[in-house]
Amino acid sequence: MKTLIKNARIMDPASGVDKPGEVLIEDGRIVEITAANVHTPQKSDRVIDAQGAVVAPGLVDLHVHLREPGEEYKETIASGTRAAAAGGVTSVACMPNTNPPLDNLAMVELVFSKAKQQGVVNVFPIACITKGRKGEELTEMGELQAAGVKAVSDDGEPVASPALMRSALQYAGMLDLLVINHAEEKSLTENGVAHGGFMAAKLGLAGVPRSGLEIMISRDLLLAEETGCRIHIPHVSTAGAVRMIREAKARGVKVTAETAPHYLVLTDECLAGYDTNVRVNPPIPEASDQAALIEGVLDGTLDAIATDHAPHSRREKEKEFALAAPGISGLETSLSLVLTALVATGKLSLLEALRRMTVNPANILKIPKGTLAVGADADIVIFDPEAGRVIQAKEFVSQSNNTPFDQWKVKGRVLATLVAGTPVYIDATFAGNIKK
Ligand code: DOR
Ligand code: ZN
Repeated sequence: MKTLIKNARIMDPASGVDKPGEVLIEDGRIVEITAANVHTPQKSDRVIDAQGAVVAPGLVDLHVHLREPGEEYKETIASGTRAAAAGGVTSVACMPNTNPPLDNLAMVELVFSKAKQQGVVNVFPIACITKGRKGEELTEMGELQAAGVKAVSDDGEPVASPALMRSALQYAGMLDLLVINHAEEKSLTENGVAHGGFMAAKLGLAGVPRSGLEIMISRDLLLAEETGCRIHIPHVSTAGAVRMIREAKARGVKVTAETAPHYLVLTDECLAGYDTNVRVNPPIPEASDQAALIEGVLDGTLDAIATDHAPHSRREKEKEFALAAPGISGLETSLSLVLTALVATGKLSLLEALRRMTVNPANILKIPKGTLAVGADADIVIFDPEAGRVIQAKEFVSQSNNTPFDQWKVKGRVLATLVAGTPVYIDATFAGNIKK
């Protein structure tokens, strides 16, 4: 099976390429990247005319909740991977806070096999750090890694014990397995439902102080430094965290970090309407934090942008603010939010924005994804970065449409998403551009 993508603007952050050309795919892999009009379309089984749109590596989202097993009413591997495809995402790392949690071989194998049967993008299950996410006993990391696990996390719950976290880093470090610790000191955060600033006080919402997040990050940085082990800090949301991670990197600590699109586009002013769709953990911070986060993305302190796609049902969101489940369904808006907030404003080049959503997260997970290199799997997104659109939550492919971005006017439209050379998402406006 040969597929030709012609009239492409080829953008590959891994090689720094941004040029017009063609991509030739054979049996699921990229076999050639050439200048424009080199190939005879008749010689290919399928021809995709990109009409000048960007052809880039499919996005790699290293922080996604697929909810299966146990909460299939929110999302399934089938629906979540289709939502990913609609968002231009071709690889997701899914968090293990399912029910039961992904803390043993059988559960991880279940996710792998469901993903193979029912998923449309690549799924990399993240396993738990501790059994039952209870923070008491480490999982069988060697066995989990042998099954294909690339990272461990108790996401949603921190590993509270410094001693256990230190062991986790050392054990995972021996295996070169990535540890992602949910950074929260529960004694400071457990009652909080919003960023503990002026807005929360004004609205009568219990606040999460920055220290509630930053104490745990500083502890983890100390442990990573002392043990020489790798650590990844998820959903960074405060200025202090950015500063600590920047300083740790400068000292040579093996730390990587991610932030999420919602922290780059919302500030705690959004709390004013008590919209439970802005309830997320960690909470949306204030403008000074947002400025530091953007600075962190620009200077590389924050390596990756990941959605923390956290689908919840309407029933769990249609509650009073403090009782609503935290989380945002993010897979179908991430590219547009980044394009609108960072690229269209001139803060970050398109290539650099894509770097943080493709090759950087792939390198953090140590998976051979996020690049258009010859020989790589043909996981590709075709999108128009300039096209305007209005986000329609009710049209989400995701089973849940808990987004604060409904009706937002944004830039960027995903036209097609290919996984191993096969189209897994085609925008209605683009269908005519694919022949055979
Ligand atoms: O907002 C959040 N939702 N933060 C988390 O850490 C967990 C996630 C979820 O699973 O819903
Ligand atoms: Zn999460």
